[in-house]
Amino acid sequence: MSLAEIIPHQLQSNIDHIIDHIEPAVSLTDAEKKTYLIKIKHLLKQKNAVMIAHYYVDDELQALAEETGGYVSDSLDMASFGAQHNASTLVVCGVRFMGETSKILSPQKTVLMPTLKAECSLDLGCPINEFSHFCNQYPDHEVVVYANTSVEVKARADWIVTSSNAVQIIKHLMTQGKKIIWGPDRHLGQYINNKTGADMILWQGHCVVHNEFKRYELEALMRKHPDAEVLVHPESPEPVIAKADFVGSTKQIIAAGQVSKAQTLIIATDYGLFYKMKQVVPDKLLIPAPTSDKSATCKSCAHCPWMAMNTLVNLYEALRGEYNTIEVDEEIRQKALIPLNRMLDFSRQTGILTAGDA
Ligand code: 13P
Ligand code: SF4
Repeated sequence: MSLAEIIPHQLQSNIDHIIDHIEPAVSLTDAEKKTYLIKIKHLLKQKNAVMIAHYYVDDELQALAEETGGYVSDSLDMASFGAQHNASTLVVCGVRFMGETSKILSPQKTVLMPTLKAECSLDLGCPINEFSHFCNQYPDHEVVVYANTSVEVKARADWIVTSSNAVQIIKHLMTQGKKIIWGPDRHLGQYINNKTGADMILWQGHCVVHNEFKRYELEALMRKHPDAEVLVHPESPEPVIAKADFVGSTKQIIAAGQVSKAQTLIIATDYGLFYKMKQVVPDKLLIPAPTSDKSATCKSCAHCPWMAMNTLVNLYEALRGEYNTIEVDEEIRQKALIPLNRMLDFSRQTGILTAGDA
């Protein structure tokens, strides 16, 4: 395995700058929340719209999606659900790459989001020109990119993967003797490389949320709870993954928690996941993995600052005015559709994505 260039300092400080300037969401009284919920439910019906939310958005948005016949899941299922649903408008509550993925798969539908400013550090850390230049240096490599990328980067890829299927897809490519360019998440890439031994070159992006989990503090927590099981998302750093009893996507973490015999679960992913986790294992003690070390460096502190930008207020406004629609250039969409369908077909054929999922 060899490494791509380190993410340029300027690019990283741009990402930090964007995070530092995210405006905190306005807090609502219970009465205001109730009013928004009534109005949003009415608009969803009126506009033949369905909500598709990621596990990391606020509890009230997840609850609303479920209550109104929408869907809450990981990025793989979100992609598939929107394409199969018969609503004419998909309201994607998550981050922009999720809205774009829905639009790539459903160009005839209106795809809108509460805010188009909800980014992802992986997407921001993998600009198309730099990534394409990097790929061009290895023309004999298969380009495999994580779903957390722009539509342009997807269009440059041979395969798209999510945390749910990345290991299996890389193993599949290994059986064909392929060498791999992997982008953008270096931790997920490293994890896959350790699991498979694939010949991989890694782009050096990271998720600002998972990158903050700390091994030493996790070990201290594990000593306090020696019977706890540790469930970790593979966007976390290698030393944290090394401590895990289970590593998987958000949906897989929930499933692992459900079958676990442990009474206490330590969970290393965005705390938005705790909403669903509490529903499925109400009797277990759920503990977030630590993000701060003694120097308290965490910026995101186990909650994605961009996921947190989705609110009842901007959801209502976007739906009412049909604002914040996702538009994708048709030529690029056609190109991105190829690796995306490749991933979905593979996931269906291998049973990773089942008919019941979406
Ligand atoms: P999952 O695919 O595990 O949901 O993770 C995607 C992600 O990073 C959401 O931010
Ligand atoms: Fe991106 Fe990380 Fe936020 Fe997911 S949690 S959207 S990977 S920044």
